[in-house]
Amino acid sequence: MSKSTIILGIESSCDDTSAAVLKDGKILANIVANQSIHKLYGGVVPELASRAHQQNIIPVVDLAIKQAGISKNEIDAIAFTRGPGLMGSLLVGTSFSKAFALGLGIPLIEVNHMQGHILAHFITSSQPSPKDKEIVPSFPFLCLTVSGGHTQIVLVNDFFDMKILGETIDDAAGEAFDKTAKIMGLPYPGGPLIDKYAKEGNPKAFKFTKPQIPDFNFSFSGLKTGFMNFINNETAKNPNFVAENRNDICASIQATIIDILLSKLKAAAKHTNINQIAIAGGVSANSKLRHKLNSLKEELDWQVFIPKFEYCTDNAAMIAITGYYKFLKNDFSNQAVVPLARYDLNSKPNEF
Ligand code: KG4
Ligand code: ZN
Repeated sequence: MSKSTIILGIESSCDDTSAAVLKDGKILANIVANQSIHKLYGGVVPELASRAHQQNIIPVVDLAIKQAGISKNEIDAIAFTRGPGLMGSLLVGTSFSKAFALGLGIPLIEVNHMQGHILAHFITSSQPSPKDKEIVPSFPFLCLTVSGGHTQIVLVNDFFDMKILGETIDDAAGEAFDKTAKIMGLPYPGGPLIDKYAKEGNPKAFKFTKPQIPDFNFSFSGLKTGFMNFINNETAKNPNFVAENRNDICASIQATIIDILLSKLKAAAKHTNINQIAIAGGVSANSKLRHKLNSLKEELDWQVFIPKFEYCTDNAAMIAITGYYKFLKNDFSNQAVVPLARYDLNSKPNEF
């Protein structure tokens, strides 16, 4: 029997420090340390994020290795997020990975964070339960990648052959959730809170104007401004408007964001004649989006792929699985590699 491949994945692009261990594509450990410090400021403060990564990275990696039940000498390669993301945050994961790979004398693999979100669909469990069907999408499929920094519809032809069909021209869908939540006085990140309160609210209670953007592109900044004006006007009439209508406001803005996302996704599916549809990124944790996608299965004859909850928001398992597929094709980086705050899904950057 051929030797198995163990990959250590490191993710530090924004405000989550994460390490994961994968053996032949199967997950052995995935540790995520969130940074609660940003709640105090209503958004991620880059300088504080990189400091927190510095504090977290060694204990997080140590825990992942222990939980995986391996010794560090069994690791075959280290995959790390090169970008896109916050430079100070990326530097911590990149520098750690370079040093650890050098110390262990093993190869280094750079990973594009957005590819990682998409390839999270290929992570399999080391102990599949009968309920886990573990069906993975087959190529080609469409992926709606919706996170705090990105909103894209991607045509995925192969593991490393991805084409962006459309993307946001301003704010990302996650930002739309977080910024509207902030306008309502909710703490960061607001997406999960809007999801929670929306469950008790009426999605038709309030109407918000949707953007008219051509092709498969998105825009969310107008929605945010419209929402702010709406809240300001209503609060001028009734200072308790938000408190009295919180659940209905959350349900209505959530429904609007999801409608915008799904109408473009439907158009892209029709245009490409592809009915294998996946979602990825932090916003794919949204319960209403997951529910609506599932209900489109029958209506549009879609095969829908929704990542496990823990692989939606930032995590190192998705970086490790991408690293695993790069390992299989001997696609390694060298010690000169530096992080990239901007890193297009399709670009093949130099090491420097
Ligand atoms: O992918 P991710 O963890 O980090 C980035 O790469 O940006 O995505 C974070 C985003 C945040 O905007 C957060 O509010 C949003 O995902 N998010 C949600 C939910 N969970 C996380 N948005 C709506 N509903 C959720 N349940
Ligand atoms: Zn992300």
